[in-house]
Amino acid sequence: MPVIRENISLQPYNTFGLEANADFFTEVQSVEELKEILSDPAYAAVPKLFLGGGSNILLTGDFRGLVVKINLKGISVVSEDEDQVIIKSGAGEVWHDLVMYCVDNQLGGIENLSLIPGTVGAAPMQNIGAYGVEIKDVFVSLEALNLQTFETETFDLDQCKFGYRESVFKHEAKGKYVILNVTFRLSKHPVFHTTYGAIKETLEQMGVTEMSIKAVSDAVIHIRQSKLPDPKKIGNSGSFFKNPEISKNHFEKLKSLYPAIPSYPIDEQTVKVPAGWLIEQAGWKGKRFGQIGVHEKQALVLVNYGGGDGNDIKKLAYDIQHSVEEKYDIHLHPEVNFI
Ligand code: EPU
Repeated sequence: MPVIRENISLQPYNTFGLEANADFFTEVQSVEELKEILSDPAYAAVPKLFLGGGSNILLTGDFRGLVVKINLKGISVVSEDEDQVIIKSGAGEVWHDLVMYCVDNQLGGIENLSLIPGTVGAAPMQNIGAYGVEIKDVFVSLEALNLQTFETETFDLDQCKFGYRESVFKHEAKGKYVILNVTFRLSKHPVFHTTYGAIKETLEQMGVTEMSIKAVSDAVIHIRQSKLPDPKKIGNSGSFFKNPEISKNHFEKLKSLYPAIPSYPIDEQTVKVPAGWLIEQAGWKGKRFGQIGVHEKQALVLVNYGGGDGNDIKKLAYDIQHSVEEKYDIHLHPEVNFI
């Protein structure tokens, strides 16, 4: 039976670096350990929080329950042919370590997702994405423990209902499963996605003449390090809000008022606009309020300079939402889960 500790600080377990305690805390290294904890009658009625890398949560107070950190490790090759390799990874592997495993073994598909904080098990929850790639593009299936039946269930691509920062695990299946492992399809003949953002220019600046999985990964790492704060130095949770999707009519009206507004077409009727631009234009970029604030290089990232309070970040998020709503009539939805 894994050790259950009492009154533990969650500060090292959330990338915002917020101070909050858990009444009970444990780490599990195997599915058996996870089942043991869950079937212990002493904790049956206690609220539970399953934690990966803690990179997508905002702790707004102490957690009056049991925090279970999922440490299921292991990366293995399931099968392989001339074109592709099927890889299975434990949910507790650090996402970037899996990316580096693929880069080192010349397996293409997730190099654009380099340096995204968090664990493999958390990645499908919100279909992590960056620089034109989402995990749904390489996803095969995942295994998850049903918290009611204690049976392991398999979810294929369709069952996960992936969308932009969305999956079934944020809706119908929310709170009902713990993801145990994820299987991906990587390519031995990768197609490089270099049109998005500054990847092409960065590769040129880096003097790369021959494209490779490693070069794309290096470029993404370079861009992220130049724009996004390192959670080890400044607490943050990456993008705090999702980029909103609005109707084309609404967009045309905004465009006439703000000709510089950037946009990405989604379909005939819908346009996505970058929340970072809206927040910056509403005057928030680089604003600091005591120990918290809006990052100076990326307005979509809220930060804790050290010793900040989760409730102050929550209030700042509401204030940003109100001002963006007032100025553009757009409601921003948080990407981060409030606990
Ligand atoms: N922009 C501004 N001001 C800002 C930030 C952005 O004007 O302060 C503008 C940029 O100039 C650009 C546009 O907004 O025209 C988009 O900016 P960027 O390329 O930095 O990407 P993003 O839309 O802000 C999204 C993801 C990131 C991902 C990048 C790159 C969301 C919510 N965020 O950010 O994901 O790394 O694209 O693909 O979709 C995350 O989810 O935590 C995350 C970091």
